Parts: sequence; C-alpha cells; structure tokens
Amino acid sequence: MKKMISTTVVEQVKIGENCWSIWLQAPGISDDVQPGQFVHLKLNRGEKLLPRPLSICETDKKNNALRLVYAVVGKGTKDLSHMKEGETLRVLSPLGNGFEVDRAALKSIIAGGGMGIPPLLELSRRIPGRKEIYLGYSATPFLLESFQELDAQVHVSTDDGCFGYSGTVIDKMNQEKARGNIIYGCGPRPMLKALSIWAKERDIPAQVSLEERMACGIGACLVCTCKIAKKEEGEWHHRRVCADGPVFWNQEVVWND
Ligand SMILES: Cc1cc2nc3c(=O)[nH]c(=O)nc-3n(C[C@H](O)[C@H](O)[C@H](O)COP(=O)(O)OP(=O)(O)OC[C@H]3O[C@@H](n4cnc5c(N)ncnc54)[C@H](O)[C@@H]3O)c2cc1C
Ligand code: FES
Repeated sequence: MKKMISTTVVEQVKIGENCWSIWLQAPGISDDVQPGQFVHLKLNRGEKLLPRPLSICETDKKNNALRLVYAVVGKGTKDLSHMKEGETLRVLSPLGNGFEVDRAALKSIIAGGGMGIPPLLELSRRIPGRKEIYLGYSATPFLLESFQELDAQVHVSTDDGCFGYSGTVIDKMNQEKARGNIIYGCGPRPMLKALSIWAKERDIPAQVSLEERMACGIGACLVCTCKIAKKEEGEWHHRRVCADGPVFWNQEVVWND
C-alpha cells in the first residue's frame, strides 16, 4: 500500500557521467515493491517544486532500504544530487503497477535504454527462468556490473560505439537473434515503440514502462495521460501513466501520438 514516509539518505554516489545512485532507508519502504514501480520524492529543503518520480532500482528488505538511480536534468534532480548521508526527504511509495513478474516464461528478453535501465535491475533479479538482457546507453554504462552478476546473458550497445556494440538495442537484438517468450522494456519512447514493433512481428507478448511528466503521481490530476487502444479498431482512450501504468502491454499503447 502506498504511503508518504520520511526517509534518510544512507548513501549517495556518482556512478557515471551525470548518473547518481542513492540509497534511502525507512521502516517498511521496501515492503511489497513490484519491479517497475516508482516513488515520488519531495526534498525537505523548502523548495516549491512538485514531487519528482523516480523508478525503484533495487530493494533491500533486510535493511529497510531502496535504491534509486538517476540523471541530473533540472532543478529537482540537481538538488537531490546534493543530498548527503543522514539528510531526510519525503517519499510517496510504491506507486504505479509494475511489471507482471509472474507472467515471466521459460525465457525473457529484457531491454532497457538510458534512464529506463534502473528498474530493470530489480526486475531481472525477480523473474524466474532464463534471461537475455539488452542495455543501451548514450555514454559510459552504469549499473553494468550489477547486471553482469546475474545469471543472464547481458548485451551492451551504445549509439556511437564508445562501449560495446555500436547501434541501438534493437540492432543488437537482431544481431544476436534474440529469442524469448516474453519481453520487458523500459526506456525512451522511440526505443519502446521500436521494441513494440519488434515484439509484434514475432508474436511475442511485451510489457513496456512509459514515462510522462507527472504532478500528483496518484491518478488525481490527469497530467500524465497516454493513449491506450480500445478493442474496436481505431478507437482509443486516455489512461493515467502514474496510476494505470507506468507498465502497459505493448499492443495497448497508441504510439503515433
Ligand atoms: C514513472 C517514472 C519513472 C522515472 N524514473 C526515472 C529514473 O529511474 N531515473 C531518472 O533519471 N529519471 C527517471 N524519470 C524521469 C524523472 O522523473 C525526471 O528526470 C525528473 O522528474 C526531472 O526533474 P527535474 O526537476 O530535475 O527536471 P525538470 O526541471 O522538471 O525538467 C528538466 C527536463 O527533464 C524533462 N522531464 C522532466 N520530467 C520528466 C518526465 N517525467 N519524463 C520525461 N522527461 C521529463 C523536462 O521536459 C525537461 O526537459 C522517471 C519518470 C517517470 C514518470
Ligand atoms: S500525475 Fe496526476 S494523474 Fe498522473
């Protein structure tokens, strides 16, 4: 059940170019978290910013902690990157639906791009069966060692070939002739659209985690709506990414909006 709690920063480390990892601790914060769910963060610094959504990258139930991995893109994330061990911030968690882990079949394909990669770490840990993991970066990889510790094939690509394969995640999946019974994806919308087409062509079910600008994070303000197809051809309706998602089946998403 989602709740607003006061959390304490237990560790904050820069883990890549413009990429930070923060561990937050509070009783109950790591309970009942589904991979793909996110938190809403509010700093205790008197700022007037709306809360900021960040995906849950890892949970540590023993120590009542969870990890977020993020890029600094604006004021909220910049302020967050300045937070030190022992400082507190308010967190509304867990939010959203998360991936359907129990749908994982004999073999899963997990594909992530950029800041869509963090929630795929908890997912990759939790899903049973064999896994092929495809990670696409625009610069030096982050979290790669954590993925490589898993019992899975991990493939890395970068846009300019500065690390791993030169090309997109989809290019790499084609090169490896990726195979699986289900696909999980998180990343920029163009990547998810390409992944969705790739899955559809092969008749593989796929779940994708969408990202939209958010305000309330709990389904009340309708800022974060996306188009979801109805059963009737050409019909669609709005769904809230924060409350009905962020994870949707690829066949539901209307990509050309
Ligand atoms: C469900 C969800 C999970 C997310 N998980 C992560 C994560 O794990 N790691 C991470 O680094 N980021 C994640 N994001 C994006 C993150 O929320 C934004 O980068 C952050 O809110 C920006 O806040 P800011 O104050 O620093 O920047 P702002 O000043 O608010 O914005 C700076 C720039 O970032 C863009 N931006 C802001 N919010 C979003 C958003 N929600 N989606 C797309 N672009 C946005 C703005 O258009 C602008 O160009 C997630 C977003 C959602 C909706
Ligand atoms: S952010 Fe308010 S409904 Fe989604």
